[in-house]
Amino acid sequence: MATGHTVGELAEATGLSVRVLRHWDERGVVSPSRTPAGHRLYSPADVVRLHRAITLRALGLRLEQVAALLDGSDPDPAATLRAHLAGVDADLRRRRTVRDRLAEVLAGPPAAAGEDVLTTVLREMTMIGSYVHGYHASEATRLRDQAATLADLLHEGVAFPDGAHVLEPGCGVGAQTVVLAARSPGARFTALDREPGQVAAARARVEAAGLADRVDVRLGDVHDPPGPVDHVVVFFLLEHLPRPVEALRALRGALRPGGTITVVEGDHGATAFHPDSADARAVIACQEVLQRQAGGDAGIGRRLAPLLADAGFDDVTVEPRTAHAHAGRPDLADSLVRRTFTPMVAGVREPALAAGLTTPERFDAGVRDLLRTAEPGGTFSYTFFRAVGAVGTRSASTRSTSPTNPSRA
Ligand SMILES: C[S@@+](CC[C@H](N)C(=O)[O-])C[C@H]1O[C@@H](n2cnc3c(N)ncnc32)[C@H](O)[C@@H]1O
Repeated sequence: MATGHTVGELAEATGLSVRVLRHWDERGVVSPSRTPAGHRLYSPADVVRLHRAITLRALGLRLEQVAALLDGSDPDPAATLRAHLAGVDADLRRRRTVRDRLAEVLAGPPAAAGEDVLTTVLREMTMIGSYVHGYHASEATRLRDQAATLADLLHEGVAFPDGAHVLEPGCGVGAQTVVLAARSPGARFTALDREPGQVAAARARVEAAGLADRVDVRLGDVHDPPGPVDHVVVFFLLEHLPRPVEALRALRGALRPGGTITVVEGDHGATAFHPDSADARAVIACQEVLQRQAGGDAGIGRRLAPLLADAGFDDVTVEPRTAHAHAGRPDLADSLVRRTFTPMVAGVREPALAAGLTTPERFDAGVRDLLRTAEPGGTFSYTFFRAVGAVGTRSASTRSTSPTNPSRA
């Protein structure tokens, strides 16, 4: 007669409930044999596996990951564990941001007259811990439109030589990734994002573009980049980070001597439009305030030179690149104003209202006025900043893998 432990005995010994043990059996984590009467019977090997499963679960791995690791069917356990570590690190950083901001708010000056501490905290922390632009399908569309609209302006002259390994942290849905890879047909790319949903979308986009053989999309955090790599390229990521210099230092550490970093960021302060409108400027200000509350900086473009220098990069150059939509550029009026900039600032409507920054009427009037600048007689300008920095002195051997970039010419 077969010997072993019943599910009840193991529940008692491990502290897991019978329900959890049954669920783990159904999900293939630990699947014991059955007695002729159909009861679960855990063999000594099942008990060993159960204890290993409990250890892996305590790390926070998902049940299917635990099952694959214990079955030996995970093709790269080290990669799974590294990706998990990156996720844990990202979570810790998010929690630290929330903790620091909460401490700051609670230690700050007394709340506005008549406001209780809970209201102050709710107002100040509306956006904390979340990514200000959100992860909705409309934001993915906006990022794709932004990349397509601005490809010539932002990517012009950015090309990496054959054989170079390029890292793109904060790749989002892969909108810039496919442009970068298409413009450097002999380079290899590693694209990184901390959000699994973005990674999945970027991977699908890379595959659809037929670039999967030389573009690897991974879950990971910019503060812990894989390396060494020859070049780094960053689009619209630093604006969201509470400590951008820390991220830049980490990226510098991932670069080989002679490597370069290319950073492209916007600056809402460098927005100009006609007809001018106080309501439209107030909408932009809502986005700036919320991004600041989330730990970011919508005006980071103007800070790129000092940030790269503080992070230890050499030979820093910065090039402002302005998109100006007017009657002679109806394509830009449509893509930049209607499909890129306005949807981005309009996307903060709910949090801006929740934070008490504006009223529905004023916000909607401001969005209408922004769209008005794309109509006949209107104009709209936005300036992006493209910075390039290098690591160490370029040697003859590394020079051959340097990117072509007009800002360095
Ligand atoms: C504005 S999107 C830009 C995406 C892409 N670079 C583009 O221009 O289309 C910023 C992205 O950075 C990611 N991100 C934010 N913080 C990050 C971090 N610490 N490490 C890696 N990715 C991060 C977000 O998940 C988001 O997908």
